[in-house]
Amino acid sequence: MFKTKITELLEIKYPIIQGGMLWISQAQLAAAVSNAGGLGIVTSAQFKSGEELRKEILKTKSLTDQPFGVNLSLFPAVQAIPNEEFVEVIVQEKVKAVETSGVKSPAEYIPKLNAAGVKVIHKTATVRHAQKGAEAGADAVTIVGYENGGAVGMEDVTTMVLIPKALDTIKNVPVIAGGGIADARGFVAALALGAEGVVIGTRFMATQESPVHPKFKEWMLRAQENETVLVERSIRNTHRALKNKAAEELLAMEARGATFEEILLLIKGENYRRVMMDGDLDAGMAYCGQTVGLTNNIPTVKEFMEEIITGAQVICKRLAQLGS
Ligand SMILES: Cc1cc2nc3c(=O)[nH]c(=O)nc-3n(C[C@H](O)[C@H](O)[C@H](O)COP(=O)(O)O)c2cc1C
Repeated sequence: MFKTKITELLEIKYPIIQGGMLWISQAQLAAAVSNAGGLGIVTSAQFKSGEELRKEILKTKSLTDQPFGVNLSLFPAVQAIPNEEFVEVIVQEKVKAVETSGVKSPAEYIPKLNAAGVKVIHKTATVRHAQKGAEAGADAVTIVGYENGGAVGMEDVTTMVLIPKALDTIKNVPVIAGGGIADARGFVAALALGAEGVVIGTRFMATQESPVHPKFKEWMLRAQENETVLVERSIRNTHRALKNKAAEELLAMEARGATFEEILLLIKGENYRRVMMDGDLDAGMAYCGQTVGLTNNIPTVKEFMEEIITGAQVICKRLAQLGS
């Protein structure tokens, strides 16, 4: 059931991928998603060296015997990310898949990863950049729309438009949809648009296995879909975050033309980490998607995934009747 080119490519049960989320996508969450039939992803950019990443990969392997992936960040970073080292470790550890993300093409890493049998999924917020990823040899592309938590790009196009547009343009690799998907309805909608799978980020933060601080999870239960804002646009690095004191301060700074250095003081990774992991809710950016408004419980990953699949079956039956 729900077998697609993505379940085939990644050898997973359901076409559901947990998007890489800095600090949050650790072994515990990734393994839970993989054990529940999806593809869990560990984020590499939270580690300083290949050996640190290897430890997390080994930990993930100790928690699941199912395929999982590693996210490789191609975003510009203040401190250089040792992606070459990461790729080396990913290849040595025979990780199933890599999710690359950013506007930069993953071309330089693909030959080595593919030669080792590692599948590459390139994630972007535009059809154009996804196509570049496909041309560079990615095995699949993920396109995330405006609703997305974290990086949303500069163009403000919704998932509803991006996915059909991508399918009209990209013919040679499967397209995965992300941004705004949080339940069976979003899952079926993405498949109906022609996607071969979905990426979910925000909704996975509010699960039992997510390492996000309980205070943040409780905030997610209270927050509504209209309580996120777009920050960091002035430095062409637009992200969606829940509105808090730091985001309001940042927006005011951006409106008065603050310098990159001033902005960096607020958006630095350590502040974001304090929000998510220490529950210090105003300490920095609280990256989060609009599906926060659809988040009203904190299930286990298995319960959440099962709810998607059983709910999707019911929806598909109803649609089949509608169409008959
Ligand atoms: C808190 C948070 C942190 C994220 N960090 C990253 C990241 O480090 N790398 C990345 O490629 N995507 C990151 N994302 C994006 C997710 O992987 C995923 O593409 C996105 O959350 C999907 O949209 P959704 O939030 O509407 O489900 C992040 C998202 C959130 C909510």
